[in-house]
Amino acid sequence: MLYSVSTALNNKERNKLTHEFDAVIVGAGGAGLYAALEASKTAKTAVLSKLYPMRSHTGAAQGGIGAALGNVDEDSPEWHAFDTVKGGDYLVDQQAAKILAEEAVQAVYDLENRGLPFSRTPEGKIDQRRFGGHTHNFGKGPVRRSCYAADRTGHMILQTLYQQCIKNDVHFYDEFQVVEVIMDGTRVAGLVTFELATGEIHIFRAKAVLFATGGFGRMFSITSNALANTGDGPAVLARAGIPLEDMEFFQFHPTGILGMGILITEGVRGEGGILKNNKGERFMERYAPTMLDLAPRDMVSRAIITEIQEGRGMRGDRKINDYVMLDASHLGRDTVYKKIPDIADFCKTYLDVDPAEEAMPVQPTAHYAMGGIPTDVDGRVCTDDVVYEGLYAAGEAACVSVHGANRLGTNSLVDLVVYGRRAGRHVAEFVKGADMPALPDGAGDHAREKIAKLKGLKGEHPGPLFEHMQEVMMEKVGVYRNDGDMSQAVNEVQKLRERLQGVSVQDANSSFNQEVLSILELENLLDLSLITAASALNRTESRGAHSRKDYPDRDDPNWLKHTLAYLKDDEVTIDYKKVDTSIWEPKPRKY
Ligand code: FUM
Repeated sequence: MLYSVSTALNNKERNKLTHEFDAVIVGAGGAGLYAALEASKTAKTAVLSKLYPMRSHTGAAQGGIGAALGNVDEDSPEWHAFDTVKGGDYLVDQQAAKILAEEAVQAVYDLENRGLPFSRTPEGKIDQRRFGGHTHNFGKGPVRRSCYAADRTGHMILQTLYQQCIKNDVHFYDEFQVVEVIMDGTRVAGLVTFELATGEIHIFRAKAVLFATGGFGRMFSITSNALANTGDGPAVLARAGIPLEDMEFFQFHPTGILGMGILITEGVRGEGGILKNNKGERFMERYAPTMLDLAPRDMVSRAIITEIQEGRGMRGDRKINDYVMLDASHLGRDTVYKKIPDIADFCKTYLDVDPAEEAMPVQPTAHYAMGGIPTDVDGRVCTDDVVYEGLYAAGEAACVSVHGANRLGTNSLVDLVVYGRRAGRHVAEFVKGADMPALPDGAGDHAREKIAKLKGLKGEHPGPLFEHMQEVMMEKVGVYRNDGDMSQAVNEVQKLRERLQGVSVQDANSSFNQEVLSILELENLLDLSLITAASALNRTESRGAHSRKDYPDRDDPNWLKHTLAYLKDDEVTIDYKKVDTSIWEPKPRKY
């Protein structure tokens, strides 16, 4: 039995708050919706989301989805797969990258057929633009591979998939926060969730559960991630004893809006925008002579920080806000307002800068978690030794692993459509032959008691803990890392986790209690911060986005392996998993 028996609810109340589905999907971004679309063709499927689906963070993806259509330049899925592997600094599982690149082509046409309004070439084909690290002929030169809908590609994907899910009668439970996963050994049995509108705890019993809860960039103070990106899926699974893979690899996107971190799409550089330092120099000429501003993101972010640290950046109001300029003014007003209209709007609204006239102030922003819940290419949660039956993950919450140590721009959208779709198909097949698992007695009691305790205590306000976590992670586990900083980060985060036990809410109401929700989210972020910092401290090399001043080189003999981090008894223990290098031999990266 997983929970202590409680008399908190009678049987009638319990039944009212218990729901049964073949498949329950947590998260209504692109991966969750695509999985739901596939699963719901044959299985009774529910989607739980802490938001209204159209507010999911996929909607913030701007610049495009990579697929080797070859509409404007010669291209091939093999080159796309190679770029993915090289961009990920060879920590990518190569057969998974091959599937990603091959299935991307059909996935884009499927989205088009379902109604996605892609931008077009003059002849009416899907248009394609340049993005960082995308090349032809295995690195010979840049290629236009990113299919886009102006700078609103993710938003259009969400709209398209949501409409199709409604058509398939998917049951949506909006504003439900996942609190616990119910496991019977290595078999999933369901979920414990918190309904924001009523404050009630609901139980979902299911043959299969798929986590597609997105990323967890809110652990950093400067981030492109939405407020909702608090890593609920990975954190809930980590507390249930399931390991997380490659959590040390967190991508900083080079161009966030100064001070706020809101994304300025790489599509700006894809259209010809140029990064400049305080001397007006195109500094990327010194760091990546072939790919220049469109080198992979880890390299461009490090170049920006190096320019700033060596005195060639602009001074911000605080050290953390030092920055460089992104100049698109030479592209002309027509291109700016046709190709990047939302960026132009953001810059005018937040900075009073018109990108058609002047350069935009930018700084690296925490953008994407390469690591997450370990899965195979069908979305099944697994390690080398264990398959967790009925349990799936997809999208940014998952680690397939197709991004390795550094994700290529556009591959997040590719990942969520290709692997969201594959996972949904596998779920549909799995539930056909599966029995409905039994629920343990008292499922949900632990969560009810936890929330009652938050309302009963007179404790600390969680706000300062939140801010402290974000500052520690930004300063000590950011673009550049070292042993001393990361050890301090582990200690600081542990202290914050202890203090979390003494926080309470000011508002004891049940309906729309945002304070309860934010404490649940803070708990998730603190657990993931600990796992991220401890995994980073453990990896004594530099690879992709994990760049250590004290270990500046990649070390394949010792570190060409995935990390698996377990959260046990409030400590992180580390194990490893093999990397699939079956197609290309790892080589040093040059761009
Ligand atoms: O720059 C961008 O538009 C971001 C895309 C991505 O993260 O793939």
